Amino acid sequence: MEEVTQINGTGISEAEIGAYWLEEDYIYPSEEFVRKAYIQNQPFLNKFKEENFPECFHEYANLLSWDRYWTTTLDSSNPPFWRWFVGGKLNACYNCVDRHLDKYKNKAAIIWVSESVDEPDRILTYQELYVKVNEFASLLLEMGLKAGDTVTFHLPMVPELPISMLACARLGIIHSEVFGGFSGQACGERIADSKSKILITIDGYYRSGKFIDHKANADIAVATAEKLGQKVEKVLIWTRHPGTYSSKTPLVEGRDLLLDDLMKKHRGKRVDYVPMPSESILFLMYTSGSTGKPKGCAHSTGGYLSYVAGTSKFIHDIHPEDVHWCMADIGWITGHSYIVYGPLANAATSVMYEGVPLYPNVNRVWRIAERLGVSILHTAPTAIRMLMRAGSNPTQYKCDFRLLVTVGEPIEPEVWRWYYKVVGKKGAVVLDTWWQTETGGWLCTTIPSVMPMKPGSAGPGALGIYPVIYDELGNEVLPGSGKAGNLCIKNPWPGRMLTIWGDPERLVKQYYEKYCKNRDSKDWRDWPYFSGDAATMAKDGYIRVLGRVDDVINVAGHRLGTKEIESAALTCEEVAEAAVVPKSDELRGHVPDLYVSLKSGYETDNKHLEDKIKQAISSIIGPIARPANVYVVSDMPKTRSGKIMRRILAAISNNREDYGDITTLVNPDVVEEIRNIVRGE
Ligand code: WT7
Repeated sequence: MEEVTQINGTGISEAEIGAYWLEEDYIYPSEEFVRKAYIQNQPFLNKFKEENFPECFHEYANLLSWDRYWTTTLDSSNPPFWRWFVGGKLNACYNCVDRHLDKYKNKAAIIWVSESVDEPDRILTYQELYVKVNEFASLLLEMGLKAGDTVTFHLPMVPELPISMLACARLGIIHSEVFGGFSGQACGERIADSKSKILITIDGYYRSGKFIDHKANADIAVATAEKLGQKVEKVLIWTRHPGTYSSKTPLVEGRDLLLDDLMKKHRGKRVDYVPMPSESILFLMYTSGSTGKPKGCAHSTGGYLSYVAGTSKFIHDIHPEDVHWCMADIGWITGHSYIVYGPLANAATSVMYEGVPLYPNVNRVWRIAERLGVSILHTAPTAIRMLMRAGSNPTQYKCDFRLLVTVGEPIEPEVWRWYYKVVGKKGAVVLDTWWQTETGGWLCTTIPSVMPMKPGSAGPGALGIYPVIYDELGNEVLPGSGKAGNLCIKNPWPGRMLTIWGDPERLVKQYYEKYCKNRDSKDWRDWPYFSGDAATMAKDGYIRVLGRVDDVINVAGHRLGTKEIESAALTCEEVAEAAVVPKSDELRGHVPDLYVSLKSGYETDNKHLEDKIKQAISSIIGPIARPANVYVVSDMPKTRSGKIMRRILAAISNNREDYGDITTLVNPDVVEEIRNIVRGE
């Protein structure tokens, strides 16, 4: 058993990790899995040894079709702004669509499944995808858009989302998709930051059987963006039921355009793809960090696409005959990398499901998997826990999975085993993949055909990735020492974001400053990447990720910034101070607990206020950020310098006594008082 001595500042405790640490069993892949896998032997792995860096990543880049081959594999002259495959030109849409037509024209590229069990699937063959992407690209050209412009999408899980992404990619237009479940205001802030003049949205979509009027969000988004100085000239609106506008929100004359009408003119149009420099931006993906402002991770065309194509092929082991279903939303990085770009670059069939896993009943997932012959399933521990606890029963269905992926949060060995035994019938391998929005693709995972699995552990570094754990002082925490520390990556890799949109210095500050050995050095060895996660490394190099060390909360595999939630709470006039901490949750991993103190003159005993604050957070960020509890307290526990001690609040929320020393607080008495409020005493 490994002993954990230090976890992090946001309240994840040793007790909470519990049995997680006892698990050191190796489980080996089935012979059948190994027989079929792309990676069969050690020589292939040897190509990715440290001495072959960076040329090892030619294995990935050579999976793509380049209009012009690169001249420099890695330009590290301006660390940490690494540039990969410099001199090369390629087009992401061509690589994901056009080049497959020769062999796979009639093959399903995307199978879209409606949330309603009565609505037929929409299947797009590679040929159909090609036609639709070209038609939409033709419209984008007509709108005056060109390479280098940004366009924001606020789209749910509809086929028009990958069509829109690929049409932008075809022209070198930078797409910035905002998760459909985010509020109009959150979308507007991202429009303003990305400087998009065009918003692409939809009238509505289904969630748990209800039609959500999504166009209403577009009006809020545009108003928010305008307040922040960004004018949105046009809102392009797809329709959930093509041909019928189903939203109750009226169209704004001159600004809102229904794509059903506009597209008629573009039927049958073809548009040449634009070969883009390898280091040009393919898309932006906003994610939460330590400040209140989400950051736009700018991913590159050549490096990113190589990285997701390579990991999808060699690690994910997606073969053209696989049916791959990733249950993530395309509004998150997982969907960009492992529903759209990675699988399609490999001519795979990628399933998209509109709805939630438990709708309309606990076995919906297995019904879909059985009917479509899904061979690779890809989801988050939260979904697995939900299915497991809801009594979902995959064994009743003729599902035949080859590979099962888990991503987004730590998975408890108990949940891992259910996934492996009950869902995978011990024949499928389980891949626990650790990565981040910033990293573009997987960083820690086993290579399933040649490495055993270890329940609850994300495995060693992926091909060509060299993880290391550092303590706060920058000393390496040795593998097998049982000590936790900060998970870092020693070397650059092609999938890492190019920069943070509009704020390159933030890339340096947030990910490199902490462990940079020499700011003047041009040697990448002096610039390890700091992930913001705490982890341990076992003797075998396998990583166990414990959670964030910064002000980020992982709710059901979705990343939220505590500062963003706190700022949203502060918009309520009554609130003087707000502090968010993660509370363990059996299903969702963590949920946010919010503590607020009020301005003088406001009544603390006010149920209505709790609802008002929750509502404010839902509408400013989105329902996923809604706190589980709002506690109105007379004062926050504070240090003499006025810093709110979130660590103490986290301990109280999680019903733990390990507050540490509270005598240094200015107001130690408040701890007891808050504890009584939380316990309902
Ligand atoms: C954070 C990144 C990357 C896709 C989904 C989330 C946590 C991610 C794992 C895993 C334990 C994980 C980390 C990371 N995380 N994968 N396999 N085991 N934790 O992307 O929203 O950028 O969140 O998710 O804390 O830093 P994201």
